[in-house]
Amino acid sequence: MAEQATISTIDRFVGHEVHLRGWLQSRTDKGRLQFLNFRDGTGTIQVVVFQKNVPPEAFEAARRVTQESSCEVTGTVRADPRAPGGYEIDASSFHIVQLAQDYPITPKEHGIDFLLDHRHLWIRSPRQRSVLAVRATVVDAIRTWLNSHGFTLVDTPILTPAACEGTTTLFETDYFGEPAYLTQSGQLYNEANIAAFGKVYCFGPTFRAEKSKTRRHLIEFWMVEPEMAYADLEECMRVEEEFVSAIVQRTLAERARELEFLGRDTTLLRNVVPPFPRITYDEAVEILNREGVPITWGDDFGAPHETALAQRFDRPVFVHRYPAQCKAFYMEEDPERPELSLSVDLLAPEGYGEIIGGGQRTARLELLERRIAEHGLPRQAFEWYLDLRRYGAVPHSGFGLGVERTVAWICGLDHLREAIAFPRTLGRLYP
Ligand code: 4AD
Ligand code: MG
Repeated sequence: MAEQATISTIDRFVGHEVHLRGWLQSRTDKGRLQFLNFRDGTGTIQVVVFQKNVPPEAFEAARRVTQESSCEVTGTVRADPRAPGGYEIDASSFHIVQLAQDYPITPKEHGIDFLLDHRHLWIRSPRQRSVLAVRATVVDAIRTWLNSHGFTLVDTPILTPAACEGTTTLFETDYFGEPAYLTQSGQLYNEANIAAFGKVYCFGPTFRAEKSKTRRHLIEFWMVEPEMAYADLEECMRVEEEFVSAIVQRTLAERARELEFLGRDTTLLRNVVPPFPRITYDEAVEILNREGVPITWGDDFGAPHETALAQRFDRPVFVHRYPAQCKAFYMEEDPERPELSLSVDLLAPEGYGEIIGGGQRTARLELLERRIAEHGLPRQAFEWYLDLRRYGAVPHSGFGLGVERTVAWICGLDHLREAIAFPRTLGRLYP
């Protein structure tokens, strides 16, 4: 009896007869020999179907099988250093489950719109599978690190009554006759949860109706947001650098094969260990103006500014203390210079830009009330949030790391749309 096996653990079955279930990736016809590039979800392997070793109907099926047909193979595992992956299957039987006809994605070049229209099929390609496998490891590294460093997961709502990150990107929906918004960030709820748990995080999809079409923006993206009671801006940066380094180093260790397949030069990623350089917004503005990427003090950075700044360092760089005017309403003031906020962004190298935004939140009721008014936010919707400054307010800090930007950076992708299985971009909701 053949044993049920998977390709990722095929080394345990050398010399045994195994049964594999999966899909045909490609086939090479050599007459009485059919070489099948077979995928089962855990990996790919070469299956050799030799006419004299299989029943006639099995050989007929192997000659007829088309790209992306589902199929089952029985055969003996053979170690072969010349085979891709080091192993091969000598088929004793082969059977088609469903014959795929005219699979739309062929080895020829396709345009990006065509591929995105066929994203439900495109995810099967080796490149896309590599990216999504890296993503899975990044997500696991995020959870593992936080869970083992004293953070408690507390899920935050997706339907919310108010904005967290500015009213221009709110995604409005109807909540039984009342307006509701898809969450832009779970941060405000995290700030409630720290009084129960000290250190918390939320991790889920977030939504921004971004009207600009860029390589770095999605409409729906995943964000992990840690929040810490009694942590100041310095502590926040210290946690961020440990966290990001752990994610990158674990992914390098566990996804070397995928990164190599993606052609990623990993030398720069190996540098991603603490401490990360820290510069102030003021210093950043000075550097940019000196280096010919002009910016007016008080303006937020655009992609060219972030790229130019990050280029100067061999690992991610913190930019802290942005002017209060270019940051969200909840930021704490710098006590020495009230025009500055205790905010910090982390910029990734190689032009990947901001992967983390965060900082110290104000613990002061009076400042928060003033900011809510200045930002034209509906005070009523924030009464509960103001309560957090009435009942046991503490200095606290936190941050949000964008999963797709992190994956794009680690994989070396030139667009965020490949870093998520089904991207939501400006004007695209299908498939
Ligand atoms: O800088 P942002 O807007 O910060 C917040 O939402 C804070 N409330 C987080 C916090 O402190 N708890 O977003 C954080 C990160 C960005 O650095 C970026 O990585 C990602 O979320 N991000 C996006 N990723 C993809 N598409 C978009 N449209 C994104 N907007 C933000
Ligand atoms: Mg930001």
